[in-house]
Amino acid sequence: MIGASGPVSAPASPAVTRLKLTGFRNYARLDLTLDARPVALFGPNGAGKTNLVEAVSFLGPGRGVRAAGAEAVRMKTGGAPASVWAVYAEAMTRDGAVSLATGSDPAEPSRRRTRLDGAAATQGELARLFPMVWLTPREDRLWAGPRADRLKFLDRLVLAGAPDHAGAALAYDKAQRERQRLLDRLDEGARVDPAWLDALEAEMARHGAALAAARVEALARLQAEIDARPDSAFPKADLALDGVLEARLAHGHTAGEAEDWFAGALKSGRRRDGAAGRALTGPHRTDLAARHRGKDQPAADCSTGEQKALVLGLALAQAGAVRRSQGAAPVLILDEACAHLDAARREGLAEAILALEAQAWLTGVEASLFTAFGAGAQHYRIEAGTAEGA
Ligand SMILES: Nc1ncnc2c1ncn2[C@@H]1O[C@H](COP(=O)(O)OP(=O)(O)O)[C@@H](O)[C@H]1O
Ligand SMILES: [Mg+2]
Repeated sequence: MIGASGPVSAPASPAVTRLKLTGFRNYARLDLTLDARPVALFGPNGAGKTNLVEAVSFLGPGRGVRAAGAEAVRMKTGGAPASVWAVYAEAMTRDGAVSLATGSDPAEPSRRRTRLDGAAATQGELARLFPMVWLTPREDRLWAGPRADRLKFLDRLVLAGAPDHAGAALAYDKAQRERQRLLDRLDEGARVDPAWLDALEAEMARHGAALAAARVEALARLQAEIDARPDSAFPKADLALDGVLEARLAHGHTAGEAEDWFAGALKSGRRRDGAAGRALTGPHRTDLAARHRGKDQPAADCSTGEQKALVLGLALAQAGAVRRSQGAAPVLILDEACAHLDAARREGLAEAILALEAQAWLTGVEASLFTAFGAGAQHYRIEAGTAEGA
């Protein structure tokens, strides 16, 4: 009978089922067949654990966990350094099984080319098929470090639930760079067509308002997810956005009003921005603030361990929020995230990941860091660019 309710099949959380590396970092060749369970990689320093999760991060949009260029990842060691490199993956996604190949362009080795089922892939498509949330040792200093790092982290969290965010950010940056080039010329006394500046500022305002709106919406979802979660091994955070457009949206302005205000602010700030060499106001200067709820302290004032637990809690909550809103969890990459967790927190982490039913990729130096996963994960010993099931 048409319309009868059969079993509702939720979109599967993305999971890599095969991963092949060729001439990638310290892997001459690797061919892994996997299932949808989390993947725990353990082995000594320098074995290739981060390299492997970097390859996984190449399935999503952008330049991966190390923000590396195409030339950096080409295998350069050994008797026969590779002239080209490639990452090939087969994966289950919301669109079913897909294959993804990314690697150096033979005609232009400094460029990376990505093909999805044999056709050129856009960043937006990759973001939709492979939403990702990752934490690396870099994020250990997230709360006390530079604002720009927090903004990147925030935008990655947003992107995991809003694939269009990447396109808006690229378009905003491009308009911003072009406007600055014109302002620099003005500053040098050259003549510049004001209509051209108006157009670029309109672009910045349009994409900037979209960026801010996506952040405000994602943060509200994330905070709701945090608030709804039972108390766990990971502390709860109270989050806030500190940004000129985000503040307007939070105070009830529409996106259109925020956009108009920003276009006006850019126009009246031309001389100042020209002298400064950069735009002094806008969503590229937004900051993410977090407080440790239990301690009622800003995150930056918490102990190193508390700061790490906070950021891990955020990553897990965002994965949960994305799963709740889209039915599928993102790929979770946690590089060295359990190194400093006590046994109870490691158990809490395994529980949280298994409950997400996400294919998380975890790394650590000892197999024992992942015993809490038991048969719930696939365990691999990594050693000198090889992987062996354990
Ligand atoms: N382009 C490259 N070619 C060959 N080896 C590389 C390349 N980039 C990094 N490596 C090597 O990969 C090794 C493993 O790195 P990594 O994955 O970070 O180790 P870990 O297991 O500690 O995470 C390092 O010894 C590094 O020198
Ligand atoms: Mg590493």
